Amino acid sequence: MMSKEAFWFEGDDLYCELTPLAELVEKYDTPVFVYSKAAIQARCREVERTLDGVPHLACYAMKANSNSNLLQLIRDEGLGAEVVSGGELYCALKVGFPPERIVFSGVGKRDEEIELALENRILALNVESFEELKTVSELAARKGMKAPIYLRVNPDIEAGAHPFIVTGRKYNKFGIDKNQVAEIFRWARSRPSIDCVGLHVHIGSQVVGLEPFRAAADVIVSLAHSLKKSGMALEAVNLGGGFGVPFADVVSDKRLPVTQRQERIPTLDEYLRSVLPLYRSLGCMVLCEPGRSIVANSGALIVRVLYRKETGNRKFVVVDGGMNDLIRPSLYNAYHQIVPVRLGSREHETVDVVGPICESGDYFALERPLPKSVRGEYLAILSAGAYGFAFSSNYNGRPRAAEVLVDKSETSVIRMRETVEDLY
Ligand code: LLP
Repeated sequence: MMSKEAFWFEGDDLYCELTPLAELVEKYDTPVFVYSKAAIQARCREVERTLDGVPHLACYAMKANSNSNLLQLIRDEGLGAEVVSGGELYCALKVGFPPERIVFSGVGKRDEEIELALENRILALNVESFEELKTVSELAARKGMKAPIYLRVNPDIEAGAHPFIVTGRKYNKFGIDKNQVAEIFRWARSRPSIDCVGLHVHIGSQVVGLEPFRAAADVIVSLAHSLKKSGMALEAVNLGGGFGVPFADVVSDKRLPVTQRQERIPTLDEYLRSVLPLYRSLGCMVLCEPGRSIVANSGALIVRVLYRKETGNRKFVVVDGGMNDLIRPSLYNAYHQIVPVRLGSREHETVDVVGPICESGDYFALERPLPKSVRGEYLAILSAGAYGFAFSSNYNGRPRAAEVLVDKSETSVIRMRETVEDLY
């Protein structure tokens, strides 16, 4: 994973592209999210290269990070957008994603959101229940339109991800039970105000093996075949997102503590290639919806060490970022690699890296071996480009962090740090 396109050490300094982060934080203060333009572009190009030769559309799942500058970058790489709310749809259109490259998912779309999608003639609504389908049908009929629909299938597959982000088991709220899809599809085909042309599946997020994707593909491909036999051929299949990314050893240096977490995560290219032949056999357009895999390792959250303290048998490093900036460790017990922005050679110690928020769950790492840190130095929390800022809040009266884009040795603020006036 170590490459010079995102974050890497040279000598003592952690760089983002050609910019030493120690300089960047002096200029922009902390906590700050830092993104590598080249890394985001590289991931977009990887997807496009892998799908080249197949009629396809990769729709970036903008819930992962919806900064409009990053969206522009991704749009310019030729990707479309996957949206899950009227707000995301509004932003995607405003950024200039062509409507015919936008798909809309979600179990709870309001009427106004469906109407907005119809009025803007987006590519497809990923419909998740029979009631939603009937609602879309009525709303489209009222407008004298034909609504483009993909049915989201719940394939009942174990994706092995954190229970909060597994979406394809039958006890999850997502999608239509695979055993009901054919009947609902047939009903949809009988409605003049619906153009039911595709199937959609999304089994979870940070899925770390290839097998669950193959199992989902088997379900979709066999459903597609049986629909075809009944005279209902598909125009498109959407295989969703959820491709896992590495969180451990994202940057390496012999002066860093050795981690115990050595799982090998497939590359984005490997994920897509593992299922492409299956979907391709259907002879229709293939869509996917990568979110995390485009932006997670293109970003880091930089924080400053405020204090060190020891109580009982625990050592704490208190930093100026908290769970309001990056909630993933608190919410999913997620592991994010943490490295000093200036490394040097020093002893290691085992610490809890905690934020300033009034909750014991406010931490970035528990009992983590790290180079011994000192007040005033900066730490980088890696793999924070996805579900970082997007999931941040003002909890405890904390203005949300700034976001900075790095392009080689140039930096630009792509979202201003909020101020206390924004809280009132
Ligand atoms: N498509 C649909 C329908 C989705 O629900 C999602 C993510 C994606 C695509 C993109 O999945 P990705 O490629 O990013 O894994 N907050 C959690 C992740 C929630 C994912 C929700 N759905 C986290 O921080 O791990």
